[in-house]
Amino acid sequence: MNSSQNKKAKKRICLLNGGGDCPGLNAVIRAATKTAILGYEWQIWGSEDSFDGFIQPGKMVPLTLASTRGILSRGGTILGTTNRGNPFDYPVKNEQGETEFHDYSQQVIEKFKELDLEALIVVGGDGTLSIGQQFFQAGLPVIGVPKTIDNDLLATEVSFGFNTAVQTATEAIDKVHTTAESHDRVMVVEVMGRNAGWIALEAGISGGVDVILIPEIPFDMEKIGDKLRQRAEGGRPSSVVVVAEGAAPRGGTQIYLEQGSRDSDRRLGGMGFAVADMIQQQSHIEARVVVLGHLQRGGRPTPFDRLLGTRFGMEAVELAAQGSFGRMVSLQCGRIESVPIEEAVAHPRLVDPNGQLVKTARTIGISFGD
Ligand code: F6P
Repeated sequence: MNSSQNKKAKKRICLLNGGGDCPGLNAVIRAATKTAILGYEWQIWGSEDSFDGFIQPGKMVPLTLASTRGILSRGGTILGTTNRGNPFDYPVKNEQGETEFHDYSQQVIEKFKELDLEALIVVGGDGTLSIGQQFFQAGLPVIGVPKTIDNDLLATEVSFGFNTAVQTATEAIDKVHTTAESHDRVMVVEVMGRNAGWIALEAGISGGVDVILIPEIPFDMEKIGDKLRQRAEGGRPSSVVVVAEGAAPRGGTQIYLEQGSRDSDRRLGGMGFAVADMIQQQSHIEARVVVLGHLQRGGRPTPFDRLLGTRFGMEAVELAAQGSFGRMVSLQCGRIESVPIEEAVAHPRLVDPNGQLVKTARTIGISFGD
């Protein structure tokens, strides 16, 4: 037996991220790569654009110390991402240019075996983690890492990216205060938050706004008008309103910029403008709108998000070493623990309308328009 035959083949694992990007993803990739290589002498591969590395040629790339150098402070993800790449329902253009959906899951499983992989780390929100869980049920050794800018996964106290988003939104709110005051206007700031209003709530309190509208508390325009008029009558003609994009009036619906047959095709947006219009019509106060949109998902991650991403990335590889598959890393009371992925995707983290944060906001005079 020669020395190369004698040398034990290195264990190989793979990491992918899916869904929307958020600050801190690169910290996860870097920490997982360093842990695999420095801690275990494994090889680690990255699947580009979610599961595409398993479906399309040339999109499975080696992750190395060199390729992950210098990425800790960078937003986005060096692997690219998509929220339209579900292998169980994969979009393909037919000859007429129309999109058809096919099941490519078997191809993913075959490619996984062909690459001789021993673990698949799936970094994602409820959608991508649910796909990971489907592959786990189909026999793949999957480990989950929670990623949600909206912070809407109950199984972890917080996910990376959220802290950076709250910082970005708070800075924006700080800035609109001065222009609102100068013009005696209402400034409406629309932030992300599909079903969970955490960014609006935390940035709203931190930025000292007057009204916070979130999906969990349906609002009433008259109540918002009352609040703004009270302020004007009390000598404060300017106000700042923060609106989560998924907020809706009582008895009304969310507003979409784009409708679609699938969840991933539907794009929320527009509630900020609707609220500003209603304020102008009903309260006769001039209103302007700022939509923060993807600014919240971009930029340099805060130290908190870099640290959490690093801790999650390391622990995901540790779970692979222990053979603890079907589990997702999570932050619990400041410690990194793990929970079954199945449990993690079953329960969204929503704002409790009777919880401490909402109570704090109400007590200091912030209206939820209810
Ligand atoms: O789910 C996270 C999120 O940022 C939502 O808050 C937002 O509605 C959506 O993604 C935007 O998605 P896209 O990047 O596809 O426009």
